Amino acid sequence: MTTLSMLLMAVSVASIFAESSIYFREQFEDGDAWKSRWLESKHKSDYGNFVLTAGKFYGDVEKDKGLQTSQDARFYSASSRFESISNKDQPLVIQFTVKHEQNIDCGGGYIKLFPADLNQEEMHGESTYNIMFGPDICGPGTKKVHVIFNYRGNNHLINKDIRCKDDEYTHLYTLVVNPDNTYEVKIDNKKVESGSLEEDWDFLPPKKIKDPDAEKPDDWDEKEHIDDPEDKKPEDWDVAETIPDPDAKKPDDWDDEMDGEWEPPMVTNPDYKGEWKPKQIDNPAYKGKWVHPEIDNPDYTADPEIYQYASMGVIGLDLWQVKSGTIFDNFLITNDPKLAEQVGNETWGATTDPEKKMKDSQEEEERKKRDAEEINKKEEEEDEGEEHEETDSKHKDEL
Ligand SMILES: *[C@@H]1O[C@H](CO)[C@@H](O)[C@H](O)[C@H]1NC(C)=O
Repeated sequence: MTTLSMLLMAVSVASIFAESSIYFREQFEDGDAWKSRWLESKHKSDYGNFVLTAGKFYGDVEKDKGLQTSQDARFYSASSRFESISNKDQPLVIQFTVKHEQNIDCGGGYIKLFPADLNQEEMHGESTYNIMFGPDICGPGTKKVHVIFNYRGNNHLINKDIRCKDDEYTHLYTLVVNPDNTYEVKIDNKKVESGSLEEDWDFLPPKKIKDPDAEKPDDWDEKEHIDDPEDKKPEDWDVAETIPDPDAKKPDDWDDEMDGEWEPPMVTNPDYKGEWKPKQIDNPAYKGKWVHPEIDNPDYTADPEIYQYASMGVIGLDLWQVKSGTIFDNFLITNDPKLAEQVGNETWGATTDPEKKMKDSQEEEERKKRDAEEINKKEEEEDEGEEHEETDSKHKDEL
């Protein structure tokens, strides 16, 4: 084999492994047809309604259509199914856009990825999911991006604080989980957090623990400094803290019989030096701070497959919103981070600037309207003022 043909073979093998698949994509660009793909849970009877809209302002009235929460103070629960996948040996990318155009005070903006055996009609807040990902806002205290993984039956929250966007524009949220047990979170196609699954979640017990058999020896001296044994208190140290004022004089009109014996007022003694403390010197017996020796944790077993889910087949919006109006759009689940970035550019990236422009011009319009109303009101007030003056002068005439 020539070097060239070997190289070609290597390239084609690499491209087989890098073959990208789109497992799920939802753009909401075919009118009411989304209703056949998204199923509302029947677990409760009073879930809020999702409606299809691009909202009050947008970059493209068709492309920016998404599912909007439409009723305040409601739970929402809808989901969509795709062919069951596993992310074994390949990246998993979850991506979608969220727009809190209502200026949200409190409400979820995240998705949940469920195993394929989820009963969609029974989906609810306690349904077992694999991954929960996306923004969550409640008051000024909670403005974070959740990244929660179900690992061996328990949900684990990320140890890091990832801040979410809290403005009224559309933002792109992306989670990448890699088969080498690393992850990346992006907002608007920019990395905001990344690292190792093992380090940033408490999936596994710690690798090292304090040796339970080790104890600090009784004679371990942890005092860095001690009193200087050579230092002695000077003999003239102890004097009273206050003394009779030497400058005070008995008033001329003081009457010992009437006023009692005169005593000068007390003042602070200028010779008073406070409590005596010996000088501090380095402790010759100091051994340094005792460090508890660590041993390998017998309960720890490395898991090279933390990232892995055997089955994923439903994506759901299972949330609570106090103030409704959030629009979800551009859902994508793929094994190809580059493709997701490109799709992000072509969807969110293409409409983000026009969306801002539209909102700006709406605000400008409103400002103008307010200003015009303000002027109108002033003119009316002035007119009324003139009328009053006229009636006043009529009164005067009559008088
Ligand atoms: C996405 O857009 C950014 C900014 O324009 C660019 O740097 C990046 O290469 C694009 N990514 C892809 C995959 O097209």
